[in-house]
Amino acid sequence: MAYQTLLTSLENGIFTITINRPDKLNALNRDVMHDLDEVMNEVYNNAAIRSVIITGAGPKSFVAGADISEFIGLSGEEGKLLAKKGQDIFFKIENAPKPVVACINGFALGGGCELAMSCHFRIAAENAKFGQPEVNLGLIPGYGGTQRLTQLIGKGRSLELLMSAGMIDAKTALQYGLVNYVVPQEELLGKAISILEIINSKAPLAIAGCITTANAVFDESNNGFEVERNEFAKCFGTEDMKEGTSAFLEKRKAVFQGK
Ligand code: COA
Repeated sequence: MAYQTLLTSLENGIFTITINRPDKLNALNRDVMHDLDEVMNEVYNNAAIRSVIITGAGPKSFVAGADISEFIGLSGEEGKLLAKKGQDIFFKIENAPKPVVACINGFALGGGCELAMSCHFRIAAENAKFGQPEVNLGLIPGYGGTQRLTQLIGKGRSLELLMSAGMIDAKTALQYGLVNYVVPQEELLGKAISILEIINSKAPLAIAGCITTANAVFDESNNGFEVERNEFAKCFGTEDMKEGTSAFLEKRKAVFQGK
């Protein structure tokens, strides 16, 4: 499917989504948010997609935030609707049954940092910069940033960043646990692909179970241990579990079908 603001490609089960507004540092305007919503439907529904990379076009920016020009004149009620829509799209990423990795190729500010945090894990290029500068605009993050930043780096570091509008570099993001790796920009996608190739060789339904259970840690309406028991039980009904355990005992490599 073609998108107005995104480039997509599918190779060996790895679907790369590139936000493509480099002249505006890939800021998330309504069109990009609409396309992100649609492209996630494709991720959910296309069985050929095994895992996903989200990145930004150009060497300078992953996403420099929500498009500030669209904030002018919004009422509180309209602001609430905007936040709800953004949060729902980012929940769709977070709850995707396939791994979604953010490859951060530059600025990840405001909604860009929030987008990266909604992905299952993050890899940064050496020039990446992270921050939630909304207080500069008299705002706070509205697409889940206050929650996920605090989950990922802890309350003290999160509140310092949120309240100061400070930016941290890739090395500090690594030290904070916000990203898993920092690599030279030319190795960014390659690093993600090498990890996703390993994940794609595992049982897809079990991978989905890992995502569901890890997300349950942060969902107060759910008991995470109960979710884990249920997901564990579900695995026993799968062909892949029979294949994985038999292959181990027969000393051969498992071939998973996602069934
Ligand atoms: N929304 C709308 N437009 C944005 C944007 C955003 N969040 N971030 C960057 N842009 C636009 C700029 O307005 C500029 O457009 P123009 O060329 O038509 O004037 C273009 O992208 C390039 O940005 P520029 O500011 O010239 O680049 P820079 O290298 O000097 O600075 C940043 C880079 C990221 C530091 C700066 O663009 C910035 O502070 N952006 C806003 C970050 C932010 O507050 N995000 C949170 C939003 S809630």
